[in-house]
Amino acid sequence: MAQLIGGITTSHVPAIGRAIAKNLQDDPYWKPFFDGFAPVHRWLAQARPDVLVVFYNDHGLNFFLDKMPTFAIGAAPVYTTGDEGWGIPALPSFDGDLDLSWHLIDALVADGFDLTTCQEMRVDHAVSLPMALLWPDQNWPVKIVPVCINTVQFPLPSAQRCYALGEAIGRAIGRWDSDRRVAVLGTGGLSHQLDGTRAGFINKDFDLQFMESIIHDPTWATQFSIKQLVEKAGTQGVELLMWLATRGALGALVRCVHRNYHLPISNTASGLMLLEPSA
Ligand code: DHB
Ligand code: FE
Repeated sequence: MAQLIGGITTSHVPAIGRAIAKNLQDDPYWKPFFDGFAPVHRWLAQARPDVLVVFYNDHGLNFFLDKMPTFAIGAAPVYTTGDEGWGIPALPSFDGDLDLSWHLIDALVADGFDLTTCQEMRVDHAVSLPMALLWPDQNWPVKIVPVCINTVQFPLPSAQRCYALGEAIGRAIGRWDSDRRVAVLGTGGLSHQLDGTRAGFINKDFDLQFMESIIHDPTWATQFSIKQLVEKAGTQGVELLMWLATRGALGALVRCVHRNYHLPISNTASGLMLLEPSA
């Protein structure tokens, strides 16, 4: 059976794409952020995942307000990036793992998660930039299965439901008849708000408590409604739902291999965690 070897959670901010394009990794503004990924690079070189399930939220590239699935999963042979209007150069496309996609779709629908299945799907900065942070040469050594969670148009799925989705995906990975090494990646958050009277809002106390809970008390944030999460983390900080899905996939106990927290990156408090399932 397939092995779930670890999980990574990270923020995704379009400005990271411009920093990469301009080689600003050692610039004083960017260094504390990019340096946070060095231990993740070392882990990836050793752990050598074959395939990544990526929890992310689309921001209008693939889904728009006219058709907004709550949960969507890719079942495409290839995922291309596109011009989102942020001025980020296009990144190399990602190969899909069709076998894992359909295995997950079968397992999730059987488990009561009625996802939208996408045999064509473009992925935005919420997939491409975290991938470029993990593999700076952009020569992706993994296939991916993107899982998109709506954080753009209300109503959003609850924190509890996103955690349960992650749990179902974790169980399904464990039952995948394959020798592949699977990792999960969740992108978004932490606290930020791009619009309205609270634009620029960041909540460091909440972010640090949330990161701590991800290790020791993973369902802590599922006590909060979406409205409460927006109050605590900002309208876009609610992207932390991806972290909950990722954590749900990893099972009851995890070991935190590495974490970093740095603010601000653009309008965002950026967080990074690397977790391994622990027996
Ligand atoms: C920013 C953060 C995001 O999560 C995003 O999707 C777009 C922009 C920002 O901080 O600029
Ligand atoms: Fe975002």
